[in-house]
Amino acid sequence: MTKKILVIGLGKLGLPMATAYQEAGHYVWGYDIDSQASQKAREAGIGTVAIFDEEIQDLSSLSKVRAIDASLLIVPTPSRSNNMFDPSYVHEAIEKIAYALRGGSKYHLVVVKSTLMPGQMKEISEKLYTTSKRDERTLGVAYSPEFIALDDNIVRQMRDPNVVLIGAEDNESRERCLDLYHSVIDQEIRLYTKTTYHTMNFINAEIAKLALNVAITQKIAYANSIATLCESFVGGNVDKVLTLVGSDPRIGDKCLRAGTPFGGPCFPRDVRAMNALEELIDSLTFEGGKGTKLPSSAIEMLNEERYLELFSTLFNQLENTNSNKITILGLAYKSGSRFVDGSPARRIVDDLEREGVRVYGYDPRVTAFIGVDVKNDIDEAISASNVILVLNDERVFRRLPWHLYPQKTIVDPWRIVPAGPNVIQFGVAR
Ligand SMILES: NC(=O)c1ccc[n+]([C@@H]2O[C@H](COP(=O)([O-])OP(=O)(O)OC[C@H]3O[C@@H](n4cnc5c(N)ncnc54)[C@H](O)[C@@H]3O)[C@@H](O)[C@H]2O)c1
Repeated sequence: MTKKILVIGLGKLGLPMATAYQEAGHYVWGYDIDSQASQKAREAGIGTVAIFDEEIQDLSSLSKVRAIDASLLIVPTPSRSNNMFDPSYVHEAIEKIAYALRGGSKYHLVVVKSTLMPGQMKEISEKLYTTSKRDERTLGVAYSPEFIALDDNIVRQMRDPNVVLIGAEDNESRERCLDLYHSVIDQEIRLYTKTTYHTMNFINAEIAKLALNVAITQKIAYANSIATLCESFVGGNVDKVLTLVGSDPRIGDKCLRAGTPFGGPCFPRDVRAMNALEELIDSLTFEGGKGTKLPSSAIEMLNEERYLELFSTLFNQLENTNSNKITILGLAYKSGSRFVDGSPARRIVDDLEREGVRVYGYDPRVTAFIGVDVKNDIDEAISASNVILVLNDERVFRRLPWHLYPQKTIVDPWRIVPAGPNVIQFGVAR
């Protein structure tokens, strides 16, 4: 049944979310404190379809908000200096919605989709009920964070998710949130793929969101550490080893590939947040803390080691070739994506710049990157320097006629360039 949906926060995820609900036949309204937000996101090529049925300029337009069936909140929760997420934007939006809902009687479901720290949802829910002066009979609230990779298929991921997580404290909220998912998930695609649904209370949902992302980073960090091991033995080959490990159904082969350190807008900050939380719990549980190394800190440490391995290899090659220029192929945080926030390239470029190294770059989906002379032709980028770093595994890099560049030194963490005397592959004996 067609519902009136309000998406609050029209950024990288909000705009595609609005698109997905609109594609599914709902009547979609949008709101953002920045009136240019949806335009900016569209210009960046995100969620290109969403042209709102109506874009609300002011959440205090009571009659409009009260007519809506569900509000989906997808506003930022930036990391604080202690690495925990700051829920202020969520509180700000909840307050506005709650005021607008005062006095109304039509059932309204609020779904918080932003990533929260464990324990934050309780306060948000209390604020919603207290400020709106409503109760569970006419107002529902759920925490249902997204597990989305920021690539060029965000809308598709929303209509065909692997995992749906719903945190709710009452049955009506839970069921209505489930109904929303059933309405937006593409029924034809679902004949071929399987979505798993998980409903639980707020606190478990908050922990589960972080726990899943941490588990993925753990697999990546583990794969990279096995790569380092394989490099130390004649005949070592990480792909052989991890193919065996991943074939065991207790482990699985997804995200079990050695390459660059993990990056992006979510993984590093989620691991840091979990680490901060573990340290806090440790210090509260044991006087002065146990001082042990906790799981998330080990993941961070392994990821950092991978960066250091990459740097030392690059600097050795710069020295060997007596050069101070590098070309990076792959500037986005992963292949298939145009997003550069937190990408491995960002960290590497910053460190290279500090050492006075000039950086050229190419990525089929990225046209600008601070500190990099980005070329829009791959040959031009490769010609610009003698040391080439292949930083993500875009298909176009796999298909390059690499044999045409025998004078270039190629550093290849993903092992996509055919082996040769000038190719330094990570994860195999060197
Ligand atoms: N980007 C990802 O890969 C990803 C994946 C999963 C979860 N998340 C989570 O989703 C949330 C949003 O992420 P994003 O990448 O879409 O953020 P974003 O910064 O791209 O967009 C957020 C938008 O919210 C708007 N906003 C801020 N406060 C507001 C308010 N009070 N009312 C209305 N609009 C407001 C901002 O103007 C901005 O346009 C974050 O909590 C993030 O952790 C992000």
